[in-house]
Amino acid sequence: MLKEKMLKALNEQINAEQYSALLYLSMSAYFNDMGLPGFGNWMYVQYQEELTHANKFFNYVIERGGKVEVKAIKQMPTSWEGVIEVFEKTLEHEQLVTSLINELVDIAIAEKDHASQSFLRWFVDEQVEEEANVTEILDTLKLINGQGNGIFMLDREMRTRVFVDTTTAAE
Ligand code: FEO
Repeated sequence: MLKEKMLKALNEQINAEQYSALLYLSMSAYFNDMGLPGFGNWMYVQYQEELTHANKFFNYVIERGGKVEVKAIKQMPTSWEGVIEVFEKTLEHEQLVTSLINELVDIAIAEKDHASQSFLRWFVDEQVEEEANVTEILDTLKLINGQGNGIFMLDREMRTRVFVDTTTAAE
């Protein structure tokens, strides 16, 4: 059985992951509207990934006998100043998520909840990858100043990203 503090924090994380999903869906809509379908696809895959993160937390809470509280999701932004700003905001957001995951680990340690510590390890590793991927794209965008032919070439590359549900892979 999950302790109250852990349960509350896990429920908040479900909401945070759902917000992340909708933030990236909103960014996907923005890119498609800009005429950058490849970037739109990349963000749509990101949206799908975040849903699997939310669901991984959802299923874990249930598995541990906790009650999931599905809550309203705050309004996400719908427009940005351009491609670079979107990825700057994405990196900032992923850094925030990393800090939330770290706080969850801190609670699991304080509560001596070994099962939650083990469960959260997947997310600790995932955040390293998330931040690295976004940083790499941001660095490339800065090299090409977020415009010109470079953007269209990058857009073509971003179109190839496909969704893979890594949350269900062998653990
Ligand atoms: Fe679910 Fe992008 O962190």
